[in-house]
Amino acid sequence: MAKKLKFPKDFLWGGATAASQIEGAYDVDGKSLSLLEMIPYIELKDKKDLTATRKLTKQDLLDSIENKKGLHYPKRFGIDFYNRYKEDIALFKEAGLKIFRMSVAWGRIFPNGDEKEPNQKGLEFYRNVFKECKKQGLEIMVTINHFDTPFPIVQNHGGWRNRQVVDMYFKYAKVLIDEFNEYVKYWLPINEINLSVLMGAFFVEDNTKKTVFEKINSSYQDLHHQFIAQAKVVEYSKKFKNIQVGCMLANSTTYALDCNPINVFENQQKELMRKLFYYDVMIKGEYPWYSLKYFKDNNIEIIKEKGDDELLKNNPVDFISFSYYMSSTIAKEEGELTEGNLMKLGKNPFLEASEWGWQIDPIGLRYTLNQLWDRYHVPLFISENGIGVLEKLNEKNTVEDDYRIDYLSRHFEQMSLAIEDGINLFGYTMWTPIDVVSAGSNEMSKRYGLIFVDYDDYHKGTGDRFKKKSFDWFKKFVKTMEI
Ligand code: BG6
Repeated sequence: MAKKLKFPKDFLWGGATAASQIEGAYDVDGKSLSLLEMIPYIELKDKKDLTATRKLTKQDLLDSIENKKGLHYPKRFGIDFYNRYKEDIALFKEAGLKIFRMSVAWGRIFPNGDEKEPNQKGLEFYRNVFKECKKQGLEIMVTINHFDTPFPIVQNHGGWRNRQVVDMYFKYAKVLIDEFNEYVKYWLPINEINLSVLMGAFFVEDNTKKTVFEKINSSYQDLHHQFIAQAKVVEYSKKFKNIQVGCMLANSTTYALDCNPINVFENQQKELMRKLFYYDVMIKGEYPWYSLKYFKDNNIEIIKEKGDDELLKNNPVDFISFSYYMSSTIAKEEGELTEGNLMKLGKNPFLEASEWGWQIDPIGLRYTLNQLWDRYHVPLFISENGIGVLEKLNEKNTVEDDYRIDYLSRHFEQMSLAIEDGINLFGYTMWTPIDVVSAGSNEMSKRYGLIFVDYDDYHKGTGDRFKKKSFDWFKKFVKTMEI
């Protein structure tokens, strides 16, 4: 029998995407390449072992510019949203989405980062997309930088390590807010801001295992610059009455492997620097006490400019957003680890996992919402959640994705319970309403969508869109709240 869930009437149900995973048109209208578009597709013997996709040398990157090796770079093609956005936005509307989360490609607006004036062609594309969303009655959430920093900024300026990149970013963010504040109410300055430190320079390694380009995105100094960049966006947003700025974290929900106090303590301690540290800086507005000790113990020195502390203090975000896909365990003595992820943590014997080894834990979502609300009392938004699966169209040109319906229903139920717990959760954008190129494994085969896209891992196919079973299920759910 169907179960009716309780959600506020104005709850924002939606879907999330990112420019480098959908747009394609990598060299059109003045756009520069981003780092992500320089990572080739590599067929893996074991889908869960992503390490092979990460062993790129600096030379590999440089060779990729003119594609000297004739490789396939999936994020250069995405799902051709650049040309098919009208069709996609109409489908999102039909599926019942009320909000669409997307990102802007920095390289379309300031291809080299240091231009004085923005690229009008780039602005025109996004204006058209936003207008289309409005025409379809969709609210918009924009991620200003979703992993795709333009390569020229990395190559010529050293990426986020260089303080000047904060100014380049802020100039870019200001242009977006000035141009598009009438369309876009919700802004996320930096996607999964914690990944830069947690994953290190996962994008590029040279043969000696030393990272190149001064450990792109790999240190707390880079992170400090990202915190400052974000605080500047929050400060600037105050000029506008109608917009809100949120943080975005890859939420790492962990439990102690068991009730052995050694493991419980280990989890508590690890949770501080793995997760709460980021929220603390962006919501409480200062580096917390335990981080200062951590930096001292690990000889980490963060170079701050005069005024940085005040900027952070005065500009906490308006809301918290986070991605939630899974949970894992922590123990003093590392046991069996999860697979298929760039961040590996402990397995949980009580949980099942997706084909990529991501442990499915709907109750962990309610746990996380409770934890964040209790600690911060700031409105919450789930900006990513979903399941990646190997899928093929059947003879009826659809996919019977009951597993996705099950995954979503179980998470929605826990969200509804969290709201009953008294938590201010105001929206949810699933990853993702339509199949996209995977961020981590760079393939089309890992499909998350309500809509199937007919491209394979080499971008072969018609690109046509087909509704999966979950499309109609979601549409009905948004109307009836029944699972
Ligand atoms: C999040 C990212 O980490 O996870 C998305 O913000 C990404 O860009 C999503 O696509 C799922 O990860 P993957 O590797 O399965 O695409």
